[in-house]
Amino acid sequence: MTGDGSHTLRSPATGDTYHSMCGAIMESMHVYIHSGLEYMSGNKSGIRIFEMGFGTGLNALLTLQFAVSRQLKISYHAVDDHPIPVETAGSLNYPDRIVMEGARRLFHRMHDSPWDQWLTIHPSLRLYKERDDIARISLPDGHYDLVYFDAFGPDYATECWTYSVLERIYHAMRKDGVLVTYSCKGAVRRDMVRCGFRIEKIPAFGKKRHMIRAIK
Ligand SMILES: C[S@@+](CC[C@H](N)C(=O)[O-])C[C@H]1O[C@@H](n2cnc3c(N)ncnc32)[C@H](O)[C@@H]1O
Repeated sequence: MTGDGSHTLRSPATGDTYHSMCGAIMESMHVYIHSGLEYMSGNKSGIRIFEMGFGTGLNALLTLQFAVSRQLKISYHAVDDHPIPVETAGSLNYPDRIVMEGARRLFHRMHDSPWDQWLTIHPSLRLYKERDDIARISLPDGHYDLVYFDAFGPDYATECWTYSVLERIYHAMRKDGVLVTYSCKGAVRRDMVRCGFRIEKIPAFGKKRHMIRAIK
């Protein structure tokens, strides 16, 4: 249980939690929805999102909620090499804590649906969950409008934050595309600048001071 009453999970391998213990929903809303999706959605009607780390599906659920409220159409490509079991997802309280018709059913569909194929979860959301390692997947060139970079922390999961991963994501984004992540580690910022990103250090959520918004 996190500080805002929403659940999170802890990785048995690293001990790292999937979200801030100060509040899972509040953190996801701040970092990914407000600082990313809301910031860049403007007058757009269709948005292509790439997520590093599908995890509990919380970012996907909150993205759907936002898309429904703004009548957006989102295509959402998420990668995860260790998906959580569907039963574990079923025990998370996110659908009970957000206002969206059919939230529990839609959240279940996100988790219960097969991996490695495009599916329509809702008229506002097409979802492609790819079960693979971020270091190995191939990504299209100049495609994504928005990236949620939500790997475990750079101190726990160094292989996700390498220059080579960041550079491939940079190339997969459209010009003016936006990447948001909760981390603001100096080495990550420097590698992002080397890739070509313009970095904004913006206020973070919880105990962290800053997070990164990176613009291509
Ligand atoms: C911080 S959690 C993601 C939280 C998620 N965005 C959410 O809304 O719940 C990090 C996720 O990255 C996944 N992951 C870790 N290493 C990975 C790798 N090398 N390639 C792909 N996914 C990885 C983990 O399985 C975990 O689900």
